[in-house]
Amino acid sequence: MATVYLDLMRLDDLNEVSEIERDAFNVPWPSSAYRRELRNNRNAYYIVVRCGDHEQARTSIPSPVSRRLFPLSFLSPSPAPQETGHRDRVLGHAGLWRMLDQAHITTIAVHKEYRRRGFGELLLTGIFDLSRELQSDAVTLEVRKSNYGAQRLYVKFGFREVGIRPRYYSDNNEDAVIMWTDPLRSSHMEAILAQRRQELAHKLGLERLPDWLSRARSVTQKA
Ligand SMILES: CC(C)(COP(=O)(O)OP(=O)(O)OC[C@H]1O[C@@H](n2cnc3c(N)ncnc32)[C@H](O)[C@@H]1OP(=O)(O)O)[C@@H](O)C(=O)NCCC(=O)NCCS
Repeated sequence: MATVYLDLMRLDDLNEVSEIERDAFNVPWPSSAYRRELRNNRNAYYIVVRCGDHEQARTSIPSPVSRRLFPLSFLSPSPAPQETGHRDRVLGHAGLWRMLDQAHITTIAVHKEYRRRGFGELLLTGIFDLSRELQSDAVTLEVRKSNYGAQRLYVKFGFREVGIRPRYYSDNNEDAVIMWTDPLRSSHMEAILAQRRQELAHKLGLERLPDWLSRARSVTQKA
């Protein structure tokens, strides 16, 4: 039976990520931009949602070059391209930049054939897991004013509109809505995230969402 799970993005995911990206955005990031992010940006963190039935894939992630200090060493840049092991298909991706004490969501997209199945929510739970791991105080993002679907998703996770960046998007001069969460350690946000995780697990037919971050950490520490 196919399983769906979160994982750190790897360089050899970039063909699939680019395909999703091209379909999802008017101005997609080229794979060269992702490559730079994964290799060089020490404050960038990218995740994917994978689908497959290869349990082996969950433990066959090659050894990354560790460039970060514990406890974030498991979030090192992705493995070099020649270090390819088996990996399952990518259905969506998301990323954040750590900016001082904030986490800034840079992207989130799900393959068009797999939307409205909870994978966008799954990616957001991963983003919040990372944000907490990075000890970010709060999470922020910009979203096109016309992108009601994404805004609804964000509101479900406690984001609130706090302002507008006029003509933020260069392709059509569309305004961006700026959204922020409350502090992640607030009881309000903790309650929202717990509820989201519970409802999403139910939607995905799981008893509870797996602790993917611990798995990623333990694989890296073993390697
Ligand atoms: C936004 C996006 C990532 C959502 O992914 P998804 O897997 O379809 O989202 P989910 O199935 O987890 O949706 C969760 C909730 O978000 C809201 N939502 C998502 N898409 C929606 C849409 N098109 N219309 C209305 N609500 C929507 C709903 O509340 C939905 O819950 P429901 O299905 O129980 O009603 C996806 O539509 C996408 O890739 N869009 C193109 C890229 C993009 O716009 N990214 C956001 C940039 S800021």
